[in-house]
Amino acid sequence: LRAEALTQVEQAETLNDLQQVRVSYLGKKGPITEVLRGMGQLSAEERPVLGELANKVRGEIAEELDRKKQALETAALNEQLKTETIDVTLPGRPVQVGGSHLLSDIVTEIEDLFIGMGFEVREGPEVETDYYNFEALNLPKGHPARDMQDSFYITEDLLLRTHTSPVQARTMGEYKGNKPVKMICPGKVYRRDTDDATHSHQFTQIEGLYVDKNVRMSDLKGVLNQFAKQFFGEEREIRLRPSFFPFTEPSVEMDISCKVCQGKGCSVCKQTGWIEILGGGMVHPSVLEMAGYDPNIYSGFAFGMGPERIAMLKYGVDDIRHFYTNDIRFLQQYHQV
Ligand code: PHE
Repeated sequence: LRAEALTQVEQAETLNDLQQVRVSYLGKKGPITEVLRGMGQLSAEERPVLGELANKVRGEIAEELDRKKQALETAALNEQLKTETIDVTLPGRPVQVGGSHLLSDIVTEIEDLFIGMGFEVREGPEVETDYYNFEALNLPKGHPARDMQDSFYITEDLLLRTHTSPVQARTMGEYKGNKPVKMICPGKVYRRDTDDATHSHQFTQIEGLYVDKNVRMSDLKGVLNQFAKQFFGEEREIRLRPSFFPFTEPSVEMDISCKVCQGKGCSVCKQTGWIEILGGGMVHPSVLEMAGYDPNIYSGFAFGMGPERIAMLKYGVDDIRHFYTNDIRFLQQYHQV
C-alpha cells in the first residue's frame, strides 16, 4: 500500500492530481482510515503494533504528498515567471497630466486678491428662491428690471440664480444686521440667452459686498482701483460711469484703460481707450433694510464681475464658448506642463 501510494504521488503532474491522491489514500474513506477503524476487532497485543504501523505509513505518505506539492508549486511559479517577464528597458507610455481650468485659475487669482484686502469667500445655492434672487434685492414681482435677467424657472418660486447677488442677501441675513460684512462670492449663474461668441446661458460671476459704518463711494473706488492694478497691471487706470442696478444707488459701471489690449473687445478699446469690466454701486437702503441692517447706521458697496469676460480680455480669448466646450487644445494653451 505504501509503495503504491508513493508511486502515485510521484506520478501526479498537477496539484489537482495530487489532491486526488491525498483524498484516496488519507481521506475518510481511504484504506488507512479503514485499517484504523477495524482495530477494535484485534487483540490487545496486536492493536499497538498495527496502530504504529498504520500511523507510520500515513506519516510517510503525508510527507511525500507535501514534498511533491511544494515541488509542483515551485515549478508552476517558475513557469509563470518565465512567461510573464517584463522588459524594463521598454519606454513607458506617457501619462496625460491634467491641470486646472483657465477659468478656475482666474477665479482663484481674483479670490486671492480680495482675500488680501480682507474679504472672506462665501458660497450660495445655484437653485435659488425668487425671494433671494430678486425680491431681497429690491426687485419685487412685476418689476421691469427682472427682464434684464431672463431666467430659468423651476417652479413659480424657484429658479436657477441669474447672478451671485443673492449670496449678499443671504450673508447679510446671517449676520443679523449688527456686524460688518466683507465678502466675495464666486459661482455659476444662469440666464436664458442664445449662446454665441459673447453670450452663454451659463457663466460665472464674482460678486463683492462690503457693509459697515461709514462705507463710502470712495471706498468702492479704492478697492476696485487696487483690483484693476493688481490684476491687469500697474499702468491701468479705472473710471466709473453712472449706470443702473435695482439693488444699488447710485450705480456705476467700471472701465479700465486699455492701451494694451488683445482680442475681439479691442475695437471699442481702440476707439475710446477704455473697456468695461464690471458693475457696482452703493447698496440700496431698501436692500440693507430687508436684510436687517439699519440704513441710517450702516452703508455698503457691492460690485459684480464676470470672470469669463475678464479672462477673455486678459488672454485675448475670442469666444466665450471655448470655456465650456472643453477642447483640450484650447485648455492646454494655458498649461505648459
Ligand atoms: N448682479 C449684477 C448683474 O448680474 C452685477 C452687480 C452686482 C451690480 C453688484 C451691482 C452690484 O448684472
